[in-house]
Amino acid sequence: MDIQDFDIRRDLDYYLEGGKVAFQESFPGVVITSDLERDMRTGIAGINGNEDMAGFTALQDNVPIGSILVCLQWFYNIPQGYIDSIYVKEEYRKSGVAKELLAAAEKWALRKGARSVCLDVSNTNRNAVTAYEKLGFVATLTQMERVIES
Ligand SMILES: CC(C)(COP(=O)(O)OP(=O)(O)OC[C@H]1O[C@@H](n2cnc3c(N)ncnc32)[C@H](O)[C@@H]1OP(=O)(O)O)[C@@H](O)C(=O)NCCC(=O)NCCS
Repeated sequence: MDIQDFDIRRDLDYYLEGGKVAFQESFPGVVITSDLERDMRTGIAGINGNEDMAGFTALQDNVPIGSILVCLQWFYNIPQGYIDSIYVKEEYRKSGVAKELLAAAEKWALRKGARSVCLDVSNTNRNAVTAYEKLGFVATLTQMERVIES
């Protein structure tokens, strides 16, 4: 396996597939409309030409099997790496692909001045929560939500 920088021609469709899978894992039952898909595609394509955003692709025989999208964000005046999305093709999971992608994203974030990386994950996405915990992430904030009655 090889980790390379995002290449829009090779990787755009794969990142979009990953974004859609991650969305469905996080929000089961919520339909991905064509508008949402278009916004996702535009967001991914925005890696190109944005110094505060990067993508890394795991390749097996030159075919993408994993992706990570990371950007630089500010928590007050503290720069942090923010993992926007991470996706590994089902048949390659639990073999350390996400771990290697995360290492590449962390190296990039460190170069940008960040001293930590963070991410958002839905409590319903148990596989991802477990993987992140094993990768050393700890919960620091809790987002709370309440359904509004009409
Ligand atoms: C979450 C995801 C990226 C993990 O990728 P992965 O390549 O399987 O992760 P790794 O193999 O690097 O695993 C890292 C650690 O987590 C563990 N792990 C990964 N998935 C696990 C699972 N479902 N259950 C238990 N442990 C798991 C691994 O065994 C490993 O532990 P170790 O270091 O003690 O051996 C992958 O499951 C995925 O793409 N899911 C769908 C998309 C998604 O939901 N993305 C997250 C959106 S927030």
